[in-house]
Parts: sequence; C-alpha cells; structure tokens
Amino acid sequence: MEKIFEVRNLFYQVGETKILKDINLEIEQGKYLTVVGPSGSGKSTFMRILASMISATTGEVLFHGKDIATFEPTKYRQKVSYAFQQPTLFGKTVRDNLAFPFEVRKQEFDESKVIKYLEMVNLNQTYIDKSVNDVSGGEKQRIALLRNLLFQPEVLITDEVTAGLDTENKAIVHKMLNEFNQRGLTILRVTHDETEIANATDKITIKDGVLQNV
Ligand SMILES: Nc1ncnc2c1ncn2[C@@H]1O[C@H](COP(=O)(O)OP(=O)(O)OP(=O)(O)O)[C@@H](O)[C@H]1O
Ligand SMILES: [Mg+2]
Repeated sequence: MEKIFEVRNLFYQVGETKILKDINLEIEQGKYLTVVGPSGSGKSTFMRILASMISATTGEVLFHGKDIATFEPTKYRQKVSYAFQQPTLFGKTVRDNLAFPFEVRKQEFDESKVIKYLEMVNLNQTYIDKSVNDVSGGEKQRIALLRNLLFQPEVLITDEVTAGLDTENKAIVHKMLNEFNQRGLTILRVTHDETEIANATDKITIKDGVLQNV
C-alpha cells in the first residue's frame, strides 16, 4: 500500500511549551486509523497539522511524498478534509453550509445530491431550509460532516465528531464512514468513545505530546 502521510521528527511548540515531541509516523492509503490519548495530549494539534491548518515548528509532513507546505491551501483542503471537534455552521440556513462545497468548486448546487447525503445521516430534506439556529448540536455535527463529504476527499480527519450523538445516530455515522472507507477514503479518527476504541482495527496513542510505541 502506498503511504499517504509520512511524518518525520515533528515538533510543535508554543512559546516555551512543547505540545508535540518528535512524532514519527507513516500512514498507508485507505487506512481507518483511530487516534486516542488523554485530554490535552496533543491529538487535535497533530490533526490540525496534518490538515495544514497550522504548521509544525520543526519536522516534515509529506502527503504522497510531497511536503504539505508546497500544496495550494484550497486544493489541499479538498484532498485532506478536517471535521472539527466543535463545528460551527455559518450563514443563515443549512443550505448556505451545504452549498459551500459546490461554490468553492464553481459547481451548481445539486439539491438531489444534498438530499441523498442528508438522508445518509438520518436528516430529511426539510433540513435544507432550516435556520442554523434551529438545529440541535448533534444535527449540526452531522451537517458539518456532510460539508466534508459531499465531494469525497482523499483523507477525512474526524475530531470527536460522534461525541454529541446518541447511540442510534452514532451508528448511522459509523456506517456511513465505513462505507466511505471501503470506497477508498483514508480516515483518521480522534475519539474518546469506549466502543469506537474497542472496535478500532488500527490505533495510535498520543500521551503528553509523544506518540506511544506503535
Ligand atoms: N495555540 C496554543 N497555544 C497554547 N497552548 C496550546 C495551543 N494549542 C494547543 N495548546 C495546548 O496543547 C495541548 C494539546 O491540545 P490539543 O487540543 O491538541 O489536545 P487534545 O489531545 O486534542 O485534547 P482533547 O482530547 O481534550 O480534545 C493542550 O494542553 C492545549 O492547551
Ligand atoms: Mg482535541
């Protein structure tokens, strides 16, 4: 399998505080990798670096063998998509959010595609015209996730995206992500969820900014 990410001697420091310390890791294309570790250990920071939202202080991150800093940010984000730990919806309606992935690609809004995707996460078509103020936290999380998936990226990074969901909706999201993974999407999933951790096939642990032996 081809390596999609190679991380070498990565450090991330803010002021005097070392948040990530000498991370070395290779991730193969097509993996579903679960990232665990105590709160504050550096998981989100590491994911934000892989998503090129922040830059490592020192060290290398290669995507398909190329330094991620050399990619054009908008293009890179279409390849490596980060689903936030605390997503926010922008604009006025759900439509504003789900139209955005089409707009950045200069494509017409495809309402039937959007309805299909909403149904994948247990939301019906009436959600399209709901105000962003009238959707629950768990609904917001699922809508935000669709923003990442309407156009399939190469890598999806999910940062505790099921944390606010009930068992039924967690299962729906798991099924959807499994299907995308089977269709070739590489997934990096940060979670504290006991069941998700127990079911993980590939897992890495970060403690106090250090990647534990893999
Ligand atoms: N820009 C920053 N400035 C100062 N400290 C930061 C910054 N970003 C992150 N940190 C600190 O780095 C540590 C790691 O944060 P991070 O968000 O990566 O943890 P996490 O493993 O995702 O935790 P959680 O499981 O609670 O989400 C924390 O102590 C955090 O306060
Ligand atoms: Mg986090």
